[in-house]
Amino acid sequence: MQTLVEGILSRHSVRKFTGDPINENDLNTIVKAGMAAPSAMNIQPWSFIIITDKGILNNLCKALPYAKMLDKAGAAIIVCGDSKEANWVVDCAAATENILLAAHALGYGAVWTAVYKYESRIEPVRKECKIPNDIIPLNVIPIGIAVDKNVKPINKYN
Ligand SMILES: Cc1cc2nc3c(=O)[nH]c(=O)nc-3n(C[C@H](O)[C@H](O)[C@H](O)COP(=O)(O)O)c2cc1C
Repeated sequence: MQTLVEGILSRHSVRKFTGDPINENDLNTIVKAGMAAPSAMNIQPWSFIIITDKGILNNLCKALPYAKMLDKAGAAIIVCGDSKEANWVVDCAAATENILLAAHALGYGAVWTAVYKYESRIEPVRKECKIPNDIIPLNVIPIGIAVDKNVKPINKYN
């Protein structure tokens, strides 16, 4: 990938992973990209949980109906928001997009899987990851090495 715009235009959701682990420095860079996102009044109402433990990835996989790729992910990042802050959802969405783009730029596949606003997903994620009540998991982002590296993004422009 040569430019930021090329990265934005070529990013796409990846749902099939090889099961290989993710380099720890890369994971830190990806989370740092999340932290670099803009937020209303620069409140940064987010926190990020990095999961590499296979047992936790498998438990989340069982609990989340639309995140069945978690068992083959090398890691997952849970983007959480502080529900006391009015703009937490939009701020955390901006952070999420930065995370997806950074993962893509570093050669990984990733996908946003929804947690909020579904109580049936929030509760198991909260329990598994010991998230306090005023903090809400917006999504779980499985990250991994794509099985198929030749997938093209969806055409959204016609
Ligand atoms: C708010 C939101 C929730 C999503 N939830 C899921 C999900 O639970 N599982 C999943 O596989 N993809 C999920 N996606 C990914 C979308 O399906 C995907 O972004 C969309 O189909 C466009 O494809 P693209 O990301 O390749 O451009 C979600 C995306 C967003 C923005």
